[in-house]
Parts: sequence; structure tokens; C-alpha cells
Amino acid sequence: MEQQSKKSDFYTQSGKLTQSWYAIAQSKQIGQSKPFSAIVFGIPLVVWRDENGNPQALLDRCNHRHAPLSDGRIEKHCVVCPYHGWIYDGSGACKSIPSEGPHVERIPPKKVEQFPSVEKYGLVWVWMGRAVPPNGEPFPMPMKTSAGWHSYYMETDFENDVTNLVENFMDVPHTVFVHKGWFRDPKQMRIAAVVERTENSVLVSYNQPKDAISFSSKLLNPKGLPMVHTDHFYMPNTTRVDYVFGDFERAFIITSTCTPIDESHTKVFTLIGYRFGWLNPLAALFLPAYTRKVITQDVDIMALQRKNLNRFEPVPFQSTQADTMHIYIESLRNYAMDSENFPKPAPIKKEIEFWV
Ligand code: FES
Ligand SMILES: [Fe+2]
Repeated sequence: MEQQSKKSDFYTQSGKLTQSWYAIAQSKQIGQSKPFSAIVFGIPLVVWRDENGNPQALLDRCNHRHAPLSDGRIEKHCVVCPYHGWIYDGSGACKSIPSEGPHVERIPPKKVEQFPSVEKYGLVWVWMGRAVPPNGEPFPMPMKTSAGWHSYYMETDFENDVTNLVENFMDVPHTVFVHKGWFRDPKQMRIAAVVERTENSVLVSYNQPKDAISFSSKLLNPKGLPMVHTDHFYMPNTTRVDYVFGDFERAFIITSTCTPIDESHTKVFTLIGYRFGWLNPLAALFLPAYTRKVITQDVDIMALQRKNLNRFEPVPFQSTQADTMHIYIESLRNYAMDSENFPKPAPIKKEIEFWV
């Protein structure tokens, strides 16, 4: 009971952060024959596909004796509770109660709470606004389908919250420590950047045409084309990191959309998109293992940070110029979470420098 109230606290405390589409699965994970279980903001959901192949999401709790519907089965496109077999359609309406025989008029009218869901860009998304109906679309994952582009999803469970994760995904200085030898090596090279905060995004444009990320310099950018690197954070939960060589002749785009499970667990869907010309077949061979290795290094440091945060009372982080984008991200997310106690972030643009 205590655990349950704690979970609904997390939902309530997240404020307007909940008013968004959150990815809960890759399309291929949701079928018509088995219910799928997901947790977002501490709220358990059951998800499946209806007769039209559309995803349906309900609160994962039978109205009768509160058994988890996700442990039941799908029959005639409805979910069947594993305990006494009550049957619910995608709207959450109860269609049949076996213990009432033919008396459909005895079915209580109360529905199981439905969550709007949609399938887009190879993912199934659920709108978590509850009382607030959906406004806007899921984040447009850049799944480029034009010739020469390839992409794949990676799914990763992190032991940390969304704010710390999106900061990590937008963070350059850690790459020479956490990913030393794998992504970028320390050179004490000066990096200049412009950081811009709008009302719902943070954009970092790096001025470092001679910079290189490990594998690109060695293999995928043999001509040494100038690299354009931009990092984007989009409210409330998505980052997009672009490395573009030359005039999009070669490119590597990493888009990560974060779905909070609870206060300290987050599911991340990472879309790796690339265009490496004639080296594409080679990239298809080594990139999945390489990107998994790099993400695992982040999983480890994120778990260490979370564990240490849990050992102390919260006090503010110490920041330098290199953390400007993180401060901007925190300000946007804090304001969405609690607009009474955090100031409304104004648009701002700042030039920064740091060394890696
Ligand atoms: S608890 Fe679901 S049918 Fe009884
Ligand atoms: Fe990292």
C-alpha cells in the first residue's frame, strides 16, 4: 500500500512532464496474441493490438479484484483477466463476466482507465496526461528512409532519472573519461560552443570542424571531412546528437527518447541512424556492438551517480561553463514539473568554451 502511494506521488510530482507521449515499446514487441506490460511514471499499463492492429493501452488493473491484466491473455482482440476471466476491450469497457452467465445487463458500467496510444516511427507511444487530452504528436524520431540511410533501435534500462540521463546524452566532457578509447580520447583541445534555450528545447552548436569521434576518424571519415556536431534537447525527454561530415555526405545521428519507469529507473529507446556511403555494410557489422558498448559505459556511470545521490540529502550540483546546457535542461524540466516554485525560463543564447 505504501509503495502504491509513493508511486502515485511520483506521477503527481512530475507535474506537466506527464503531459507528453512516451515510448513504451518497439512496434515489434506489441502483438495481437499476448498482452504487454509497461510502467510509466510508476503507473502499470497493459498494452496489446486490437482487431485493426492499433495499439490499445489500459491501466494494468482489473476492476474486479485488481489482478494484473497483463498476466492474462488476449481473446477476440480483448484482454482477459487471469483471475476470474472478466473481459475488457480496448476502450476499457467490460464486455463479459463469466460468473454472470448470459446476463450482460449485470456488467458494471465502470471502465478500466484507458491511455491514448499511437504507433509511430517504429515505436508504440502512450499519452500520460490522464485528465489532460493529447496535444501534439510523438517526437519525430529521425528515421531517414532516403537512399543510403540505415537505422536501428536499441532499448536500454537505466538506473537513473530522466533529467540526469538527458544531461549525460548531451554531455561532451564525460566522453574522454567514461568512453576513453572508445568514443573520444583526452587531448585538452579547446571546444567553443553556442548554447541556446528556447521555451521547449536546448540547442548546442559546437565549433570544432577538426574534432573527431574515435571510430569516425579511424574508419568512417578517411577523407577527414569537416565535422559539424550539434546536440539538441527537446522537452520533455528526448535528445538528438548529430555528427555530420561534409555536406551530409556522411552522418551519424543518435536520438534517445526517455521513458520514466519510476523515480530512479528509466527506459531509453535509442535510434542510431547513419549514412556512411560504401562503408555502410561494414558499419552494419560493427556499429550495433560498438554502440552497445558505449551505452553500457553510460549505464554504469549513471547507476553509480544515482546510488550516490541516494546516499545524501539533495543539495545543488556545482557547475562550470561546460554545464551550461545541463543548467538550461534542468530549468526547463523543473519549470514543467513545478511552475509555482521554479521560475519560467526565458529564451537565452550563450557562448561557452571548455576543453576535452
Ligand atoms: S480480478 Fe479480474 S476477474 Fe476477478
Ligand atoms: Fe556517454
